[in-house]
Amino acid sequence: MQTEVIRIERNNINAQIMQKAGSILKSGGLVAFPTETVYGLGADALNTEAAEKIYAAKGRPSDNPLIIHIADMGHLDKIVKYVPDEAKKLADAFWPGPLTMILNKSACVPYGTTGGLDTVAVRMPSDKIAQELIRRGGGYVAAPSANISGRPSPTTAQHVYEDMNGRIPLILDGGAVEIGLESTIVDLTADVPVILRPGYISLAMVQAILGRAEMDRGLIADDSGIRPKAPGMKYRHYAPKAELKIIEGPIDRVISYINQRADGSRRIGIICTEETREAYPHGDIKSIGSRKNELSIANHLFEVLREFDEDGVEAIYSESFEAPGLGQAIMNRLLKAAGHQRIDVSE
Ligand code: TXA
Ligand code: MG
Repeated sequence: MQTEVIRIERNNINAQIMQKAGSILKSGGLVAFPTETVYGLGADALNTEAAEKIYAAKGRPSDNPLIIHIADMGHLDKIVKYVPDEAKKLADAFWPGPLTMILNKSACVPYGTTGGLDTVAVRMPSDKIAQELIRRGGGYVAAPSANISGRPSPTTAQHVYEDMNGRIPLILDGGAVEIGLESTIVDLTADVPVILRPGYISLAMVQAILGRAEMDRGLIADDSGIRPKAPGMKYRHYAPKAELKIIEGPIDRVISYINQRADGSRRIGIICTEETREAYPHGDIKSIGSRKNELSIANHLFEVLREFDEDGVEAIYSESFEAPGLGQAIMNRLLKAAGHQRIDVSE
């Protein structure tokens, strides 16, 4: 299959191209598109065969459910059994935006979309291209991140092309995404709202609206044997080809630990920040952003992991970015990429 990549200007969206993209979705095909978090691989969420094409294109296990994207609040009622008060409050506060809610599904949502579950994940993205595509595609677009299963999520159309060339007919290129990490997922079907995947919307932000919410225990404890509740969070993810280790402790000790392992050959990859870039004389050194601007780190994390694959490094060492808020989401993705390998150099 020939994959077409078409550039879309966000403040001057070409109606003809969006019409074409919408009709691909309506006829059961796949279209990759930008959202504010990462690029998505869209299909008509209410069409089982279309959803199945997503699993085939990504090589994704079929028990891993998809998020349904909507563009209008009035469309929520159709796909969920009922809208609890807490969902209304979160939608008021954070939609359109990088928040996904798990709710009980209605009968019209096929099990092919929910991986056999009676619950459904729903999100209303803020990206204008995404909204336009959803409206033209029938209103309900199932979309996982547009990467091959296990690879870092795509934050540019080029990343999507690397993974999806030949597998899908159309990629809408809206440039680099705003955030760079996938949406926060909050489960509203349990007794207490639970965050299943941290993202730009932090636990504290959800608590500020609802007065209560907690983190999924399976996310906090990496060796507890407790399974994360979002099926997708149990799979190995984002893993670069080279072994990645996260070094924790006072920054000067971290730098010296990493420098002892690097040499002039660029076989060792180093993930650092603007603030520490100059402290590394050797290695394949990549700054992912500034510690003063967490969003800049979120923006570049997946891109840097992809670049190390291209460079063919043998091992990667990363500084740690533990912090509340967005830092929690950054560390969650980095730890998954590292298979939870962390080295504490405090003492
Ligand atoms: O930012 C995002 O959420 C992006 C963009 C494209 O919107 N999408 C995304 O989708 O990250 P995906 O498929 O890569 O991740 C969806 C996650 C998976 O971990 C999946 O297991 C979980 O959501 N999920 C989906 N439906 C669920 C459900 N009913 N119950 C629990 N977890 C669910
Ligand atoms: Mg994904």
